[in-house]
Amino acid sequence: MEVKEPQVAQPRPPTERPPKVRKPRAVQAWKLAHAQNSMFDEARAELGDVFELNLGRNKWNVLAHPDAIKQVFTSPPTVLHAGKGNEILATALGDHSVLLLDEDEHMRQRKLLLPSFHGEKLATQTKTIERIAELQVERIPRGETFSVREHSQEIALEVILEVVLGTASTGEQHDRLGAATKHMLEWIASGIRLVASQMLGPRSAAIKRMYRPVLKPLDAGLYELIAERMTEPGLEERDDILSMLLTARDEDGRPMTDVEIRDELVTLIVAGHETTATALAWTFERLTRTPGSAARLHEESLTDETEYTKAVAQEGLRLRPVLDFVIRKVVEPIEIAGYQFQPGDIVTPSIYLVHRREDVYPQALEFKPERWFDQKPGTYTWIPFGGGVRRCIGFSFAMAEMETVMRAVARAGVLESVGPDEKTVQRFITSSPERGGEVRFAA
Ligand code: HEM
Repeated sequence: MEVKEPQVAQPRPPTERPPKVRKPRAVQAWKLAHAQNSMFDEARAELGDVFELNLGRNKWNVLAHPDAIKQVFTSPPTVLHAGKGNEILATALGDHSVLLLDEDEHMRQRKLLLPSFHGEKLATQTKTIERIAELQVERIPRGETFSVREHSQEIALEVILEVVLGTASTGEQHDRLGAATKHMLEWIASGIRLVASQMLGPRSAAIKRMYRPVLKPLDAGLYELIAERMTEPGLEERDDILSMLLTARDEDGRPMTDVEIRDELVTLIVAGHETTATALAWTFERLTRTPGSAARLHEESLTDETEYTKAVAQEGLRLRPVLDFVIRKVVEPIEIAGYQFQPGDIVTPSIYLVHRREDVYPQALEFKPERWFDQKPGTYTWIPFGGGVRRCIGFSFAMAEMETVMRAVARAGVLESVGPDEKTVQRFITSSPERGGEVRFAA
């Protein structure tokens, strides 16, 4: 569908800056943590498709127009860096994480990881997800209120242990790694720890000391697993991502080091857990508040059709995108939306604002899965997974997980909403439903 609004990319004088949000810095920073969406909505209504937020150490140039987002996602990796923007995650993920690297080093790690999530691998992974989801759905209490997130987190954790680490679903090592992973994920989800990392710097001695007790058992378990797996015969035939990383070679024939493998494993665990679990929670929260939708999903789940299920997942990620923005740091001068940005500037494509454009999505605030029957997700207008050379590596995997879990839950009955609409709260780096998506199976 065409974007009808006027183009934003009118050339402007080189010194002109985007209009500024005129609230005190501290208020803007507080709002980013507690009332982000209303601040973005108000700023766009008042200032238009490009505006500047002042967050103390940083100024963000927020972009809400698809043309501007296209300019960001298609610019070379030497001009805009994403690694710096993700730096707050460095303590847990480690310096070799694909999320934190840029340019050649980023591309090297990305290419080593990408084959793990595509083609035949994805079909095998989907079968694993199905088995895990069905087991978890049996544990959902019938007739009682439950939080989708509680169950989707259990599923996401088990999926990671099997798909990424390749540990069997029972056994001492599986349980030990599971407990260490869960502990780390719950620990880093706390907003206060993120704020502390932001203020002191993720690589400061104090922050590293704070993280040590929670990372130590996880790292010990991961290095033990890496050492054991390396000596196992038939690594090439195994489907898990750890085994693939152990056998992967870059363009120069170099294998990954143990530390690189550890950092990428933790990256996949962190990037793939909370995001998918939250996306499912929001999607069910919206679905059950839209008359007829939950019944329709249930009916489709009893057949081999998946059109409606896919549309529901796409619409859930549009209206409640989980990550509301992505961040890029300018390293070479670049013109975006007519403005000249200089090295050091930060540009922030707003997933949240683009997904709510009436010119792209008529009745944008309504949850309407049907809109996807005759509209394909646009590269620069449906961006829950970001874009360009940084687009989410787990995109196909996450969509498969969402659809598989939704079908498994819907097969068990028709869900209905409980209580008032859920507000958005910040959990770790995600925008999450305050009660985790509370629902119950209709009698
Ligand atoms: C619904 C679930 C998910 C959402 C909404 C999501 C969203 C995102 C977003 C917005 C980015 C940043 C893109 C950018 O900067 O342009 C990203 C990056 C990434 N995601 Fe996901 N993600 C999800 C699931 C997953 C899963 C399941 C995995 C892997 C198991 C994963 C692994 C990654 C990795 C490794 C990156 C870094 C890519 C790079 O920097 O090159 N994500 N994701």
